[in-house]
Amino acid sequence: MGVRVNPLSEVMACEITGVDLSKPLDDSTFAEIEKAFHDHQVIAIRGQRISPENQVAFTRRFGDIEPHNTTEFVIPEMPQVLVLSNDVRDGKPVGVIDAGDFWHSDSSHRKVPSKATILHSLKNPSEGGDTQFANMYLAYETLPDSVKQRIEGLQGIHAASKLKNKRVQVSKDRPGATDFYASRMGRPDVTHPIVMVHPATGRKALYISPRFTIGIAGMPEQEADELLDLLFDHQLKMDFQYHHKWHENDLVMWDNRCLLHKAGGGYQYPDIRLLHKTVVAGDKPH
Ligand SMILES: [Fe+2]
Repeated sequence: MGVRVNPLSEVMACEITGVDLSKPLDDSTFAEIEKAFHDHQVIAIRGQRISPENQVAFTRRFGDIEPHNTTEFVIPEMPQVLVLSNDVRDGKPVGVIDAGDFWHSDSSHRKVPSKATILHSLKNPSEGGDTQFANMYLAYETLPDSVKQRIEGLQGIHAASKLKNKRVQVSKDRPGATDFYASRMGRPDVTHPIVMVHPATGRKALYISPRFTIGIAGMPEQEADELLDLLFDHQLKMDFQYHHKWHENDLVMWDNRCLLHKAGGGYQYPDIRLLHKTVVAGDKPH
């Protein structure tokens, strides 16, 4: 069975068929998948009937696994796998209900953010549930030269707690969310270059997001807000977006170093969504 790679849009993303991740992955197939990941930023490997163990083994091929920031909804015997779901059993949620409701790059609030995020779809709602992506290579490349010069060398300030960010709100659908974000108020903010050089491709990408970036190091608040608002407006243009419509048993992996993403929502209990999430740890951006 040969590996086939088909682009899913003109902006980014491809589907991959002819791969079975329930079996050991040989080096040449892995190399084809890794190349598709660098070329397309988002890969959707179709038709994967895999276990959490298989998903963890695949994740490890790309690097160390990043631990989740909650232990509440991980699979007990496989804590590298986090359950995302709106399902409720015996009155209790079975997974994280509303992960990623604002545009972001995973873990950019950490000193060493995530390299890649992997979601395996076990159940899709009949409507909605898309994952939206925006290509940050294109966002950077299409900035006017004057703005490129202005942001070169600047550092964005990234904050973990939503309560520190005037551009986002805490979801009312998630039980205990305000307490959760209050508990993260004490975490130190981190800074990352606004222009990130991708360590594998060498391309420049815009590395800020409305969810996590709250300021610019060394810049007065009003000036930073104006510049950030301009950059946020630009980076989320529809021209840079791809919206992934999930197939059951899709395994989707995306590159947090050169795109933003967001959960599209649009589905409601008892229309169930169930995904398993693993994360590849990254390097400090430069
Ligand atoms: Fe995310």
